[in-house]
Amino acid sequence: MNAPAIQPLVPKTAKERGKIAPAKFAHVALRTSKYEEMIAWYSKVLEAEVVLGSPIASFLTYDEEHHRLAILNMPGLEDQDRRYAGTEHLAFTYESLDDLFATYERLAELGIMPFWTINHGGTLSLYYHDPDQTQVELQVDVFETNEALADWFQNSDFGMNPVGVKVDVPDLIARYRAGENRDTILNRPNIEPHQVMAQMPG
Ligand SMILES: [Fe+2]
Repeated sequence: MNAPAIQPLVPKTAKERGKIAPAKFAHVALRTSKYEEMIAWYSKVLEAEVVLGSPIASFLTYDEEHHRLAILNMPGLEDQDRRYAGTEHLAFTYESLDDLFATYERLAELGIMPFWTINHGGTLSLYYHDPDQTQVELQVDVFETNEALADWFQNSDFGMNPVGVKVDVPDLIARYRAGENRDTILNRPNIEPHQVMAQMPG
């Protein structure tokens, strides 16, 4: 019998492992020289509100957390440069496919379009650039449990294709609204090894 290429882990929480760990992930703070533009962009994209604003810093949230995002006003910064190590993207999970699709459409009407739309297998993900070119991933989980995700990792072609398969979101929305089932909408098709690099952005 062939050994599986990957041994996915169904994670236990640190607490379940008897450890003291943070209770939650709280917020991200971004420094910017495009202060007003960044506040407006994140307010629109995340449906966030500014809970506390000042000329120096603004704190935004969209849920029960007092702030999920801090935006710090620092005039004169240079643009980000991908030659340097740093954050690759921030990711936000929506509750449902309906919510992700509604968000895609709402943002498209505002002229905010993703630069990469991909079915990773575990998530359907829409990647946007904020005004400073930080990547923001809006996603929905394909599987309801970590066990189901681990099972998919084990039995899919993820080892060959860890990137995903690009999707046409308007097409997915049309199929979904025409009554196609969520599972087939979110099912990542198999592709050939030579097609994997073509699934990258750009
Ligand atoms: Fe991600």
